[in-house]
Amino acid sequence: MKFGHFSDSAREYVITTPRTPLPWINYLGSEAFFSLVSHTAGGYSFYRDAKLRRITRYRYNNVPADSNGRYYYIKDGDTVWNPGWQPTQTELDSYECRHGLGYSIITGKKNSLTAKLELFVPVGDNCEIDRLVLTNESDAPKSFTVFSYLEFCLWNAVDDSTNFQRNFSTGEVEVEGSTIYHKTEYRERRNHYALFTVNTPIDGFDTSRDAFLGAWRSNANPEVVENGRCTNSVAHGWAPVGVHQVNVTLQPGESRSLIFVLGYIENPEDEKWAAPGVINKTRAQAMAARYATDAQVDAALAKLHDHWNTLLSTYSVKSSDEKLDRMVNTWNQYQCMVTFNMSRSASYYESGTGRGMGFRDSCQDLLGFVHLIPARARERILDIAATQFPDGSAYHQYQPLTKKGNMDIGSGFNDDPLWLIAAVYAYLGETGDYSILDEPVDFDNDHSLAQPLLEHLRRSFGYLRTHKGPHGLPLIGRADWNDCLNLNCFSKEPGESFQTTGPSEGPVAESVFIAGMYVKYGNQFAEILDSTGHTDEAAAVRAEVAEMEHTVLTAGWDGSWFRRAYDAFGHVIGGEECEEGKIFIEPQGMCVMAGIGVDTGEAVTALQSVKDKLDTKYGIVLLQPAYTKYHLELGEISSYPPGYKENAGIFCHNNPWVSCAETVVGHGDRAFEIYKKTCPAYIEDISEIHRTEPYVYSQMVAGRDAATFGEAKNSWLTGTAAWTFVDVSQYILGIQPTLAGLKIDPCIPHEMDGFTLRRVWRGATYEIVVENPDHLEKGVKAMTVDGKPVSGNILSPVPAGSTVQVKVVMG
Ligand code: BGC
Repeated sequence: MKFGHFSDSAREYVITTPRTPLPWINYLGSEAFFSLVSHTAGGYSFYRDAKLRRITRYRYNNVPADSNGRYYYIKDGDTVWNPGWQPTQTELDSYECRHGLGYSIITGKKNSLTAKLELFVPVGDNCEIDRLVLTNESDAPKSFTVFSYLEFCLWNAVDDSTNFQRNFSTGEVEVEGSTIYHKTEYRERRNHYALFTVNTPIDGFDTSRDAFLGAWRSNANPEVVENGRCTNSVAHGWAPVGVHQVNVTLQPGESRSLIFVLGYIENPEDEKWAAPGVINKTRAQAMAARYATDAQVDAALAKLHDHWNTLLSTYSVKSSDEKLDRMVNTWNQYQCMVTFNMSRSASYYESGTGRGMGFRDSCQDLLGFVHLIPARARERILDIAATQFPDGSAYHQYQPLTKKGNMDIGSGFNDDPLWLIAAVYAYLGETGDYSILDEPVDFDNDHSLAQPLLEHLRRSFGYLRTHKGPHGLPLIGRADWNDCLNLNCFSKEPGESFQTTGPSEGPVAESVFIAGMYVKYGNQFAEILDSTGHTDEAAAVRAEVAEMEHTVLTAGWDGSWFRRAYDAFGHVIGGEECEEGKIFIEPQGMCVMAGIGVDTGEAVTALQSVKDKLDTKYGIVLLQPAYTKYHLELGEISSYPPGYKENAGIFCHNNPWVSCAETVVGHGDRAFEIYKKTCPAYIEDISEIHRTEPYVYSQMVAGRDAATFGEAKNSWLTGTAAWTFVDVSQYILGIQPTLAGLKIDPCIPHEMDGFTLRRVWRGATYEIVVENPDHLEKGVKAMTVDGKPVSGNILSPVPAGSTVQVKVVMG
């Protein structure tokens, strides 16, 4: 069952009923000002950091779901309604929400009045524009009243939802003309405030939530709206809100637009005040003036569309499969941008108050983003690397506002350092900009410890080289990619953090998964060293890698698949001898991607075991059999009911690893089958089972051991976005940026005749035609560049600005 449909020409998902299984959201903004907006106009805004600079208030886990946002009420006679249905839930005559690239358009119609709400964050500005266009579709004049409503957050979202003894006394606002200014704490240590304005004289306002809603009411039935009149309240403490009242009369067929702007302003210290106690509004007024007319808003929207069209033209495919094209050309890359911006901080499942930016998460997100805006990827790499410790280990998370490592969670996740190599290699392959390796970068955010970035990579690899366990495999530390496999934790206290309890480093517990990473990213590190003239060092790294490969094929091999780990007692995890958790997905994908066992047969055997033991109709589960009881020696993984999350859920992030691995052994049919199982466009028809947005990936789909098999959770902020894009763009369609050049090595389903693809790489445009006359799954037999045959399948860089025609024949 579907609740809408894709519009490929507009690059939108069109939701046709407000009663979706869950809130279906979109992200506005991709630089500093961000808004989350659901299909019913719920959500919130923040500046850079969802925890420290929250602009509007949201209540997670609220009932009804998602009942705070930027709401526009229309009082037309006795009927009160919202264009997005929430929060009044007044039945609409028609409803539609179009989620597009960086904007959403929600249109409701009631009693012959159409209200179209366009929401977006303009490129280069720190505000959200909500343009409400009202059209009288009746044949008589109509008079009605519009009320805007949003609730301000008192900046620090954690404090805002916990420290009420203070908060109820601090709220302050100013109102001037049609603008409401939220200035809580501006009198003391803040030099920022928010504004909420509309481009027309208003007929009233409210800034006190109590005055607007009335006692014992909710935003479903505000007293002010019911009475049709604002009270012009000025908030002193309690809960400041922004409410405008605009009375409108429209002739038959007439339209009127109201442009609301929610903005964030910073003032320099010496320009904070216009008069004692009166904030300096100059910048706010300038912002309001930038969006005072429809022409200005149209221009800003056009700029936003151009921005996205340019970005997404970097990689676009045309094949015979419209779902593939839709995901590759639009939605997958769009989600990559969002995960790059947000890491795992703010979604409808991540409250924005917990995790900041994850070290491993952000490095992986970058793999799917680097081709879009390499300059931002560069900056991100340098930020992340600066949170590394001098010994090569790393803070697991950092705050985006301060860019400082997060002390609460600390370090000890032993896969983290190697992901930095993955990110830097991807950046170098994309750009060829080796200067990044010479950039001095702090260790532990301490400038006096700065070293060139190359030295950071050296220490990343070195950390794992010097932290091996009894079998010669890398020590796992607190956890590797699987945050829930906590082998040194042994927690018995309810509520204790699995991530930080116990020693950060145990001397015994080892990870085969990190060993796979060590081989894959060790080889990439060696390539980087070779390309920078460090050939002896490269050879030494390769020798280390070869030794690890051998160790994986002995201590890490179980007979039919790769083992997962050894616990703190040296017992196998993920082996035939285990009662539960006999086989895990992660090492199969990572080790084969690293090339381990490809020549000797173990790779194919391991992938066959995945198919036999872990595959389901909705994707590949993380492990089998699921853990049915809590294992003290395994930690959080066994805390989940069977079939959920890391305990045998379909953890979407590592499905593409297996798909990539299948291409490594030449199985295009199987790689594509895996790709499709979790890919949103292919499962849109089961939206009532899947429940999350059908245009983006979710972190997890309940596995076959779960009561709700097929139900997804935690949409948007997942490494799945980046890894699936890597899978489909580099491994399946086969366009791989490498240090040696742009490699073309497709591995596709045999029935595919081929495809055409546009790739902008290092400033030049490659128009690539791939033909598959013999209906193979892999192999390139001939390649021409501008009509001339070339040997091999690697394209060398050409001058920026040129366009190159490439023809590839599989065979
Ligand atoms: C975390 C990742 C982790 C994954 C698997 C996600 O929630 O953000 O860092 O790799 O879970 O445990």
